[in-house]
Amino acid sequence: MDPRYVRRRLIVGNWKMNGLREPGVELAAAVAGRAGAAAELTADLVVCPPAHLLFPVAEALRDSPVALGGQDCHMARSGAHTGDISAEMLRDAGCAYVIVGHSERRADHAESDETVRAKAVAAQDAGLIPIVCVGETAAQRAAGEALAVVAGQIEGSVPTRAVAANLVVAYEPVWAIGTGLTATPDDVATAHAHIRDVLGRMLGQETAMGTRILYGGSVKPSNAADLLALADVDGALVGGASLKADDFWAIGVS
Ligand code: PGA
Repeated sequence: MDPRYVRRRLIVGNWKMNGLREPGVELAAAVAGRAGAAAELTADLVVCPPAHLLFPVAEALRDSPVALGGQDCHMARSGAHTGDISAEMLRDAGCAYVIVGHSERRADHAESDETVRAKAVAAQDAGLIPIVCVGETAAQRAAGEALAVVAGQIEGSVPTRAVAANLVVAYEPVWAIGTGLTATPDDVATAHAHIRDVLGRMLGQETAMGTRILYGGSVKPSNAADLLALADVDGALVGGASLKADDFWAIGVS
């Protein structure tokens, strides 16, 4: 890697809609305990619990190097949006990051690239770092459209004024999420290089080279090291395996 662009590894646990208070706090405390006891961390660690756990998990992470993230935010600062949560509220709960445009939100809530970009901008305006998710479906991949789809999502979802310090991108092929199927290292390497290329055209070289690009989709302790060794893979967005402290920790130190 060009020494001018050191991208510290970032491992993010996306708990999705899992966890009641007691096990959730236990999980956070277990991760915080391991991180606190480690002599040196080679990665930034983040956990993204469901919204009702943000405050107790923030408490469990207090004084630990593990950061807190939200799983989604609304594009507006406040107002009549029943059931939604704003970026400022996430910040108020102690978050430093928020996932936006996860494929489950794009599919379940019909979120467009435009919506995702507005959420990412709202996150940045509130002082959070958005983790903007992109990724093709199995059908798009089979049709040979994977790279074009991902490029379109990047061009449509990433804030046009982002800089490396306030942007993270996650490449998550939809067919690899929660399925146990992982993209091959070759496919991941190609997609990540392509994403960096598109970011470069959009935001300039400086931003593209400094932006962390995570891989997500069935990342587990047994495949993490191979994926994280790829040149343009700067970390992982971990779903299922982030629900076990041992597994999440093993990925974090891969
Ligand atoms: P998975 O989920 O690790 O369970 O595949 C990843 C994600 O959706 O962020």
